[in-house]
Amino acid sequence: MTTLRLRERIRSKFRKRKQVAVPPPPPRPIPKGSKIVERYPLYEPFAHVAIVQSPKTGEYKYVLDELQLDPLERGVYDRILEILLAEIESPKEEILDPRKFFAEEAKKIVDKYRISLGWLPDVSWYKILYHAERDLVGFGRIDPFMRDPNIEDISCDGVNKPVYVWHRKYESIESNLEFGSDEELDNMVVKLVHMARKHVSSAFPIVDASLPGKHRLAVCYRREVTPFGTAFTIRKFREDPYSIIDLINLGTFSEEMAAYFWICLENRASIMVLGGTAAGKTTALNTLACLIKPGSKIITIEETAELNLPHENWVSLIARQSYGLGGSGIGAVTLFDLVKTSMRHRPDVLIVGEVRGQEAYVLFQALATGHGGMCTMHAENLDSAVKRLTQKPMDIAPAYIPLMNIVLSIQRVHLIKDNEKKAYRRIITVNEIADYEDYKCVFKWHPTKDSYSPAFDKSVMLSAISERVGASKEELLAEIKRRRDVLHWMRERDIRSYRDVAAIIAEYYARSEKIYEKILAGEEVEAIAISRNP
Ligand SMILES: Nc1ncnc2c1ncn2[C@@H]1O[C@H](COP(=O)(O)OP(=O)(O)O)[C@@H](O)[C@H]1O
Ligand SMILES: [Mg+2]
Repeated sequence: MTTLRLRERIRSKFRKRKQVAVPPPPPRPIPKGSKIVERYPLYEPFAHVAIVQSPKTGEYKYVLDELQLDPLERGVYDRILEILLAEIESPKEEILDPRKFFAEEAKKIVDKYRISLGWLPDVSWYKILYHAERDLVGFGRIDPFMRDPNIEDISCDGVNKPVYVWHRKYESIESNLEFGSDEELDNMVVKLVHMARKHVSSAFPIVDASLPGKHRLAVCYRREVTPFGTAFTIRKFREDPYSIIDLINLGTFSEEMAAYFWICLENRASIMVLGGTAAGKTTALNTLACLIKPGSKIITIEETAELNLPHENWVSLIARQSYGLGGSGIGAVTLFDLVKTSMRHRPDVLIVGEVRGQEAYVLFQALATGHGGMCTMHAENLDSAVKRLTQKPMDIAPAYIPLMNIVLSIQRVHLIKDNEKKAYRRIITVNEIADYEDYKCVFKWHPTKDSYSPAFDKSVMLSAISERVGASKEELLAEIKRRRDVLHWMRERDIRSYRDVAAIIAEYYARSEKIYEKILAGEEVEAIAISRNP
């Protein structure tokens, strides 16, 4: 391309720029008089966060401090954004890291045009590229929040309202980010929905989708159902899923409890996790499922993909929303459909992310025909869960309830540790269902001591297993102890990533005597890497 043509092209971009929307206002600065409690980087040197506390109310606030573009930089940014959109060719092969691909391509294009766009210092170019990456391949203005590992949830309740974040340490706190116009908020949400390869419009205002990186996105679009304007919530997915060792270290499980679940799962016990919103049900379900024998055929069924298993023989099924108008349900594939279908694939274990309706009925049918099953359910305690299970739409016969062998209740609790009050997740109770309305509590959490006490003498599950495998209950208790030692050994060695933990568990399934002897002798165990999903 000649320089003349290049100039003409850039000039024409400049002319077009007049239509570009007013830039969004920067996040608000730290309110006067507030105390900075903590400060940490999110993406050096572009984005930092300060947690501030109001001296009057004692409330915490999440203040995002992001390098902003000055008017001159903003002008260049608008132009370069269009050039990038026009010139970056779609990659020939599938790319693993879109951000890296973008950064490399963008740099080449910027090098080509930077002289014709007018002189700017390098610092400005870094800022411009940061903003371009954030807006084109990242998650837009909420991108810095997505980079903060302390944030679990991000929620926006409408236009001109502060975005709230759920912070590991400070819980639900207000941030200084807000969307100033319907247009800005709607565009951002449409972009997010497109990133999840879904569609949202006034005709289909409710969307549940899975963003790249498996973050769960729930949207109510425009003022169709939400009078304050578009609302969205993102439940962030941990790239490195919690392993059972992590949850023991966090105090959610005890070593003994994990060993008990391990033996029960080996013997096809069915398990249900109960709890409120964000109590940690799905996480507990996922970590428990990792204890299932490696060769088992597992089918997981969910509305949005959240589960992540190390098993080779794992099929993940995800429900699909309808494409039809006016609630016709055409083309929808529901959890109920998927659970029914899954039975034809002969799973050893069927895992339903969360049961809400009729699919529970089919899950219990599966349990009745000898399949293993696991699920979560939104319920405060076992009594209310059983009540819901036996009423419409789930409609499970009371005689079928004991097919669910073990039910654990998980809760978010507040504990004071090292003089600091923080939220933790604790398994409040583990109950075995001996019969309808006959529950045996085998583990109970003591809030004052923050510890668990087992009551294995009450366990009907261990009795059933001992009959099944022809071992005495004492032998089973000794096996629980051995597995506890294995888990303890992993904690001591800091073997915690879910893949490493899965490798040791697989090794124990294959050669329990050998690995246990090594552990007792304090020798290193070379975990034979089982072939696992990427
Ligand atoms: N035991 C735990 N300890 C600390 N954080 C946890 C624990 N379990 C879950 N979380 C975090 O809590 C959030 C909600 O967890 P999730 O399992 O999706 O909840 P639920 O399924 O009950 O809605 C996630 O961000 C997750 O990382
Ligand atoms: Mg969940």
